[in-house]
Amino acid sequence: MIAQLSDLHFSLTPLFGGRVDTAHMARRAIDAVLRLEPSPDAVIITGDLTEHGLPEEYAALERELARLPMPLYAVPGNHDRRDAFRQVWSRRQSLPEAGPLHVAADLGGVRLIGLDTLVEDQPHGRLDPEGLGFLAQALDAGTGDCALLFMHHPPLDCGIAKMDSIRLQQGAAELERMLLDHPEVERVLCGHVHRNIQARFANTICNIAPSVAHQIVPDFNRTDVIRALLDPPAFLLHRVKRGHAISHLIYVDPSTAVASE
Ligand SMILES: [Fe+2]
Repeated sequence: MIAQLSDLHFSLTPLFGGRVDTAHMARRAIDAVLRLEPSPDAVIITGDLTEHGLPEEYAALERELARLPMPLYAVPGNHDRRDAFRQVWSRRQSLPEAGPLHVAADLGGVRLIGLDTLVEDQPHGRLDPEGLGFLAQALDAGTGDCALLFMHHPPLDCGIAKMDSIRLQQGAAELERMLLDHPEVERVLCGHVHRNIQARFANTICNIAPSVAHQIVPDFNRTDVIRALLDPPAFLLHRVKRGHAISHLIYVDPSTAVASE
């Protein structure tokens, strides 16, 4: 099982006029992962680990994430900064000394491939030829049984006008073409939109995770603003069985189970 946390926006001071304490929310999300039975085999984070990309934010978040005993893989989102991310994250994930922070790993028959779509200082994403080349190599090096691709920016429109204007703006068509030849890719896992959304992409499923902090109002027609919403924080849990993924939405805050009779 692979837990997917997204859009932590970890900040040392609360956001939105003090109303959203993302450091506290990250702690609660980690608590929720630790409560899972069985424990996930790995955790992936689909970007926006921090709000401001500050080294001190990554360091404080890293202290919280250190409570997770399983392997962790992450890619940056538009709120992240590569250098600060690299400085802290290279202790747990083998990263190149410069350039994009793509990652590939094998996990019991599941190929995990993370793509860095960050364009520094821009909200939209990009997958350049180098990133597509990394993906092609990473897929070819896999067993061909099952691969989960993860990246921050969705490669498709989700219908929320303002978010669609800052989605993956370059490389989406090339990615779609490449995935048509790779039926082993069970999911394209994204963040960025702070809502749980599913859509067909190539011959696979694109699954956008909610945030473990604030969510986003589904303003389908507004192009002027992105509004945050305090819906319950949640994350995704992907269970891979015989090469096929089944994805569950898990709320961070535990609710009371009703005993069966
Ligand atoms: Fe975000």
